[in-house]
Amino acid sequence: MNELLKSPGFLVSTGTVGADLSYLLAVIFTVSFLVAWRMAKKGHGTRHHKLILVSMVSMVLYFVGYYYARSLGALAFEGKEGFGGSVETYENVFLPVLNTHLILVLFGLILTFYMIWEGFRASEQKAGEWVLKGGNLNVSPQKFRRIILWIVGIGVANHLLQWIGRDSFPFGAQIAYILIFVTFILIVSIEKAVEKLLPDGARRHRILGRATMVIFALILCTSTATYLMLYVFYPVTPAGT
Ligand code: HEM
Repeated sequence: MNELLKSPGFLVSTGTVGADLSYLLAVIFTVSFLVAWRMAKKGHGTRHHKLILVSMVSMVLYFVGYYYARSLGALAFEGKEGFGGSVETYENVFLPVLNTHLILVLFGLILTFYMIWEGFRASEQKAGEWVLKGGNLNVSPQKFRRIILWIVGIGVANHLLQWIGRDSFPFGAQIAYILIFVTFILIVSIEKAVEKLLPDGARRHRILGRATMVIFALILCTSTATYLMLYVFYPVTPAGT
């Protein structure tokens, strides 16, 4: 499998199958999120809701694929050695684009999970069609505390199980797990941060939803730019060629 992922890409020969596959999945999930926005704009709540869930599945597949392939990520993090352009281009163009991309992905991920949770609470089914319902949308402080405690509890239990069940639990893996659970806490915390600012659930869905969609559009631009720089404009040429 690993050999296949490292073989020359199907989009450009300077890429790898792994990098091409993860880029293609990224394009599919971001474009389908944007199409879901168009559907919501046209008032097709149910089609919007369905496409959002399909896009979510392809986004999870993308992250699993990315984790296994790691080609784009590994190359991007290899430092200057993984980049065929000059040091100036690397520092002044490539790194700023890559860092912007990573920050956008983090915000996009947090907002997506939050928006799906908010979307279900802010809408209802009327005659088979999902519609946004007006009115205040709050989580009581007790419920909020309970959710946070559940996340912390599952995080601690997961950590203990990994410790007992694995031969070794490297520091990097421990940090990654902690970050995943901190992200879940952040997702839930968005609720408390925006409840006062945007108390109406439907209005909150539209405003935060549009912000999330703009982030998706920017993710599409920055991932395309990163891919093009790594594999089309500045690929690493093997020594002697
Ligand atoms: C990543 C998750 C989501 C995002 C980013 C998102 C984004 C949006 C945006 C931007 C709009 C307003 C469109 C516009 O006027 O410009 C909207 C409307 C709507 N959304 Fe979502 N949404 C998400 C998830 C959901 C979910 C899970 C549901 C249902 C369970 C849902 C149900 C609706 C409904 C019913 C509307 C109103 C459509 C209409 O105007 O008739 N959304 N959404």
